[in-house]
Amino acid sequence: MKGAPLIPFAATAFLGLLLVFLLSLVGLNVGGDMAGENGEGNNNAEEQEFDDPIELGESVYEGNCASCHGGDLSGGAGPALDGGDHSAEDIIAAIEEGPGSMPAGLVDGEEAEAVAEFILAENE
Ligand code: HEC
Repeated sequence: MKGAPLIPFAATAFLGLLLVFLLSLVGLNVGGDMAGENGEGNNNAEEQEFDDPIELGESVYEGNCASCHGGDLSGGAGPALDGGDHSAEDIIAAIEEGPGSMPAGLVDGEEAEAVAEFILAENE
């Protein structure tokens, strides 16, 4: 029997890895189904898909801006954003630069544009 246990051991290790691999595939599929059926209840904007940029913007706003600018844009630790005197460029510049005590670079790219569109839409 010298040396013989080596093969069963390798086979067990292989089966273990295969099981982990299969379970992770199952996990990914379940996650995908849940995201497809129910976008709500998940506040992580990056994992959600929105057809409408305003909806993405609202989700980004709630996650990143509402704590300082108020859930209804009426202000709080930061100034109100419902005054209607901000352009999309102003809002994106504020996000990039972080005026005063506002942290810079909270969001960028598509999310920054979407949140600017959301703020403008709320001001219409
Ligand atoms: C930690 C609190 C905080 C968060 C979070 C925050 N802000 Fe601000 N924001 C401020 C403060 C404070 C100011 C005012 C800075 C100053 O001019 O002194 C400000 C200013 C602004 C301005 C310029 C307003 C004006 O009238 O000059 C805009 C636009 C803005 N924020 C948008 C956003 C957006 C969009 C987000 C989310 C991506 C966000 N802020 C997140 C605190 C915050």
